[in-house]
Amino acid sequence: ATGVVDGAVEVVLAQPRGFCAGVDRAIDIVERALQIHGSPVYVRHEIVHNKFVVDDLRSKGAIFVKELDEVPAGALVVFSAHGVPQKVQDEARCRGLQVFDATCPLVTKVHVEVAKMRRQGLEVIMIGHAGHPEVEGTLGQSPDGMYLVEDEEDVARLQVNAPDKLAFVTQTTLSVDDASKVAQALRERFPGIQEPKKSDICYATQNRQDAVKLLASRCDLVLVVGSRNSSNSNRLREVAERLNVEAYLIDGAESIDPAWLEGKQTVGITAGASAPELLVQQVVTRIKEMGAVSVRTMDGLVENVSFPLPKGLGRKNADGV
Ligand code: F3S
Repeated sequence: ATGVVDGAVEVVLAQPRGFCAGVDRAIDIVERALQIHGSPVYVRHEIVHNKFVVDDLRSKGAIFVKELDEVPAGALVVFSAHGVPQKVQDEARCRGLQVFDATCPLVTKVHVEVAKMRRQGLEVIMIGHAGHPEVEGTLGQSPDGMYLVEDEEDVARLQVNAPDKLAFVTQTTLSVDDASKVAQALRERFPGIQEPKKSDICYATQNRQDAVKLLASRCDLVLVVGSRNSSNSNRLREVAERLNVEAYLIDGAESIDPAWLEGKQTVGITAGASAPELLVQQVVTRIKEMGAVSVRTMDGLVENVSFPLPKGLGRKNADGV
């Protein structure tokens, strides 16, 4: 036998896991744009941070670019789920590009909060990871009066113009536990700082982190299906690891190192919000080939969130077209 596992290894799947409504919609937007308008459809930045998804759309005629200057005049461009700075919107308008905006509505919600806070004369602190496109997009909602903090040390160091006229927002895919510590540090350093009524961390991030905590409490190995640059997937791996469970982030079945399974009894699998279920199923198949005997899904929340497509991309009819 090729099995590396001994004894009765069990596979347990987290619930919920994988695609969120924002990712589903973003991929649909690119596919619909290709169906209706044909190739090429330009996409600014990876539509969602998943290698399989990006390669698949590229094979269907999508062209991924870093910036709009790579898009020919008059062409059709999709903005990624992470959102874009205001200046990118302006540039697209100036250049007469036809835009379909796949920014997740829950990211747009944060953009709207920022604009409102700035109109009220507040400076805005964002809790997020430097360099992530969502952070660049949200910071780019105002030409000035924005600050980024990544952790409590940044809060201690931060210099603002008017400490009594402050608000904060967060990236949507942060670790819920880490973000609440940084938010608390902000409240202590700047009493009276305003904040969104409801957390900016999205339902999908919250639910997947809750589910992986439950999963990790029953497993001795956790595999998170997701790409290296996926923020929420990295957080899932960290959450499992903090519960002292060995955890790896993998792009798919081919990334599994058989040595990880040696001596393990229960292997938990989850997937980031941008990772297709197909990849999860391939991982399950691979672990069965290695000798796992049973597969079950944990009880958990069933999500029924969905976001409408932008105008002009319409609804799918019964043929899916
Ligand atoms: Fe949107 Fe959250 Fe997904 S912000 S894209 S629903 S991970």
